[in-house]
Amino acid sequence: MGLEDLGQMMAGMETYRDQHLLVGYDTSDDCGVYALSEEVALVESVDFITPIVDDPFLYGQMAASNALSDIFAMGAVPKTALNLLMWDKKHLSKEIITEILKGGASKLNEAKVTLLGGHTIADQEQKYGLSVSGIVHPKKIWRNCTAQVGDALVLSKPLGTGIIATALKNGKLELKADCDAVVSMCQLNQIASQMAQEFEIHACTDITGFGLVGHLLEMCAHDKGASIFVEKIPLFDGVVDWISKDVIPNGTRENYAFLKQKIKTSLDFSQVIACFDAQTSGGLLFALPQNQAHMLVERLRFGGYEQSEIIGQMTKRDQEAIELL
Ligand code: CO
Repeated sequence: MGLEDLGQMMAGMETYRDQHLLVGYDTSDDCGVYALSEEVALVESVDFITPIVDDPFLYGQMAASNALSDIFAMGAVPKTALNLLMWDKKHLSKEIITEILKGGASKLNEAKVTLLGGHTIADQEQKYGLSVSGIVHPKKIWRNCTAQVGDALVLSKPLGTGIIATALKNGKLELKADCDAVVSMCQLNQIASQMAQEFEIHACTDITGFGLVGHLLEMCAHDKGASIFVEKIPLFDGVVDWISKDVIPNGTRENYAFLKQKIKTSLDFSQVIACFDAQTSGGLLFALPQNQAHMLVERLRFGGYEQSEIIGQMTKRDQEAIELL
């Protein structure tokens, strides 16, 4: 949800809340959840991003998939959305903006989400995203902080969108709509979320701006730890190469600088940096019993998340929360 910084800034502030609040902003979960009745809870999230690629339709698709993702990460069903458009009128024509919105709409249609409206404002830097509302049964919410020691960790999409996007932005890589990272950023986490409903999911989150390590740390709340088998982590085509050429986004370097003291590893920087890469529309990370993990991976692969993998497990916390093996 990107509320970690906001959460810090709001710490100690008194904000109104009533007894229907189920998930607030204090645990950095993917969405806020509010009970409407004993059977239905409202799930809300908002996300907008600057352009990732130089193709307005694809950018619109990525922004929408990214915004919807937090709802799927709660195990919820998205129902309605509002467009949020910050329009860089100096550089982008109305035709281009229409393409961005069309890209977003195509993903809402695919997810069967009703667009209710939106808001536009002129801005010096282009941004687009959505505010999304969904529903979930109050007893079936997937939190990010409720994993159990011994759980297997399953990741549904490869890592490296930040690195690929940087290679594209620097003109080192040519944009192709069928390149695996681009396809993945446009791919909804919807089917993964639906398929996982059949399993005993203890915790779930989606991998976005704070990278795998940042979001896994949220999963390690209440003094839990995690071990990650770095070699098992799927990466997009070319990511290893770009890392060796030092094509690494600033956001990823910042994640590394900020989080490196929370990890234990004997691997070097180039081997672990992908674990810190800031993702756009990244995959879902599930914590579930070991004996169900292989079946979930099989299902996810069948559902179009071909590189799904068991990447590690939850542990009792050592000195550092996360061990990269
Ligand atoms: Co999220």
